Amino acid sequence: MITKCLFPAAGYGTRFLPATKAMPKEMLPVLTKPLIQYGVEEAMEAGITEMAIVTGRGKRAIEDHFDISYELEHQIKGTEKEKYLASIRNIIDVCSFSYTRQIEMKGLGHAILTGETLIGNVPFAVILADDLCVGNKDSGVLAQMAELYKKYRCSIVAIEEIDINDSSKYGIISGKELEDGVYMVADMVEKPSPKDAPSNLAIIGRYILTPDIFEILRHTPSGKNGELQITDALKTQAKNNMVIAYKFKGKRFDCGSVEGFVEATNAFYEIDKKKS
Ligand code: G1P
Repeated sequence: MITKCLFPAAGYGTRFLPATKAMPKEMLPVLTKPLIQYGVEEAMEAGITEMAIVTGRGKRAIEDHFDISYELEHQIKGTEKEKYLASIRNIIDVCSFSYTRQIEMKGLGHAILTGETLIGNVPFAVILADDLCVGNKDSGVLAQMAELYKKYRCSIVAIEEIDINDSSKYGIISGKELEDGVYMVADMVEKPSPKDAPSNLAIIGRYILTPDIFEILRHTPSGKNGELQITDALKTQAKNNMVIAYKFKGKRFDCGSVEGFVEATNAFYEIDKKKS
């Protein structure tokens, strides 16, 4: 059973400047909800209630978001505007939030290692909030992965097929298909050029990691772009033990890019319109 989810959220969000100059990129809203709230809701749907967030300078709005705002609540109490706070209130009631700061930006592996103090010695999920995911009609992407974890009990990365020309944006895996959409990872490369990519199966921002990953990360040298890469640590784990790659059911929007963000906004607007 996975009970904790780590959210690396210290990055600068340079692709969204100037919007992200004084505001965390994780707080950019798709319709009325910030990206990180979608991530937290996806984790909750997977049965997770302990949210661990790796923040950095200028990220205080995230902490304020997952807290009560007494003045605001007092102002709108008893008015019809109260309903707009229902979703976030439910999150605050059900979940706990813990935070630690990443002092220097040294890659996703470094961000995850920074979160060790919040996670401890248990398997945990990782959500990168700028990958906004919708699952299939039965369950969200992380819930699908948590289900798979019960069977395989090892680290799991979510993957999707990409255009090979985009390989340098992702960690790319290769492996043997064990069952429909489930691969045992044989190799992993962080952001290879198309000619060096071992396949067109790209890792997206959803992981389940076993806690030995922390010790592996401590001994992993800097990789692509001089950063500590989670992909390199997972490759070691795949060699020593086993790592699963899972072709999730659903859709991912790359909200780290303006194009993906607009696509997500339009898609969520259509979903919302159908509901009302
Ligand atoms: C990170 C990982 C990469 C993965 C991607 C998914 O890269 O290093 O392996 O494919 O997230 O979003 P980033 O997008 O942080 O550069």
